Amino acid sequence: MIGQFVPIILTAGGTLFLSVAIYFGIRYFAYRRSFRLPHQFDFLWIVTSLLFLFLGCFIQPPLEGTISPTLIIWLTFVASLSSFYLLIFVLDQFIVEYFLVSILKVYIPPPLRKVILLFIFLVAVLITVQKVFNINPWAIYAPTSLLSLGVGFAIKDFFQTFFAGVALTRIMRIGDWIEVNGKEGEVSDINWARTVLRTREGDHLFIPNSELQKGSFLSYSYKDRRHRCKIEVGVSYSCPPQKVKRVLVSCAQDVQGVLSNPAPESYQAVYGDFSITYVLNFWVADFLRTKEISGEVLTRIWYAFKREGIEIPFPIRTVHMVQDAPAQVSEITAALIDNIDLFKILTDEERIALLKRLKKETRLKGESIVRQGHDGRSLYMVVQGKLSVKRQKQDGSTVQLGELGPGQFFGELTLLTGEPRSATVQALTDTELLKLDKSDFQEILNQNPALAEKLAEVVTARKTTLSGINESGKGVPAPIEKNDLSRKIRSFFNLD
Ligand code: CMP
Repeated sequence: MIGQFVPIILTAGGTLFLSVAIYFGIRYFAYRRSFRLPHQFDFLWIVTSLLFLFLGCFIQPPLEGTISPTLIIWLTFVASLSSFYLLIFVLDQFIVEYFLVSILKVYIPPPLRKVILLFIFLVAVLITVQKVFNINPWAIYAPTSLLSLGVGFAIKDFFQTFFAGVALTRIMRIGDWIEVNGKEGEVSDINWARTVLRTREGDHLFIPNSELQKGSFLSYSYKDRRHRCKIEVGVSYSCPPQKVKRVLVSCAQDVQGVLSNPAPESYQAVYGDFSITYVLNFWVADFLRTKEISGEVLTRIWYAFKREGIEIPFPIRTVHMVQDAPAQVSEITAALIDNIDLFKILTDEERIALLKRLKKETRLKGESIVRQGHDGRSLYMVVQGKLSVKRQKQDGSTVQLGELGPGQFFGELTLLTGEPRSATVQALTDTELLKLDKSDFQEILNQNPALAEKLAEVVTARKTTLSGINESGKGVPAPIEKNDLSRKIRSFFNLD
């Protein structure tokens, strides 16, 4: 009984074995080259294997003759087409996608690639028709002159559109950003008839290739993906232009995505009725992020202008009756001061005097508050947030000196000695700071000159760590003389 099924079992087993072996062979080949085959491959493989399995079983006894010969012929036809399609698919993936596109980085226009694949498949269909049905497919096409004319027109149209698509792919690629008729988007597909744009809102815009070929469009990606952003801002006549330009430029520096070369630049553009218009230009690496980056720069401008007392006037008569208190000293701030080593030696009155002079500042994530090598006149206390302290060595490498959080302070070295900033302090999160300027500190020191000694003691530790970061990075910290430091502080503040 079982014996009569042996031919079927052998055929089915052999087909399955062969199919699985070839499948894993191809997958392994792709895996070794870290090449991901699309999921259509699995689907096509399963369908083709099942068709052959089915066919194999029905041409073997005892199932032989149980289905009509016509059905067997059609099954053979479909199985052959499916295997041709699979073969073309695999060759396209390995030769075109992997070898030409990924390895050799050759750009092949998608419409051209599709048409070549279609052409090869068409030839495969014709050969299959000839072999399976034993007919000459060319004989089916018996042209009349009228039909030829119609076909000719259709072919002409097709080729016009097709070559428009091919020509476009020479100046535009998938992933480029373009603007057509006031609508911008990322090119997500270029097929033989249309180009598809994906807009910022996630919608799709379909544009006939012929329209792009005949009309003009703006490309943000052709040859160079960098893009210049321009921000205009009106500033009060009372603000010194050099200061405004410096602050504007500093607002674009350090923002992630803003290029340092070409560097951000600012200039005065217009003397208006109520304000002077300044322009801030900066370059971004990727057009896609322009809005987000410009937004970030605008936010920084708002905070920086507030901090630096730069006014953006309204075009209305505004009488400001309320003055910002120089320092809204909350209990939290007072407690914070009490915990800072540097100020523990101050008397209660001196601390109150100090509190009154503090100015609040908000700094956004990524902003550099002080930069190594720059001059400075302020000391900062951290109320909220996290900052990193980094120092660049002579060989160009950067060392992380530490992180600062609430209750800690920085900027004292320059404030107390007048030396350039020893490190760069950058906000790791949005940060609230209290700032004390040299002039305010001077008054406190004038009233309590002995403070210089104590201050020297407190900053000696940091100075010693800094000197440990010698330029080779692994030296022994050079001892810092506390007396030297206190002398420096005294002379810088004219206390002697
Ligand atoms: P200043 O040199 O004015 O500017 C950079 C600041 O980084 C410096 O003052 C210190 O306040 C701070 N700084 C330097 N070294 C360290 C360190 N090792 N740990 C924490 N902060 C430091």
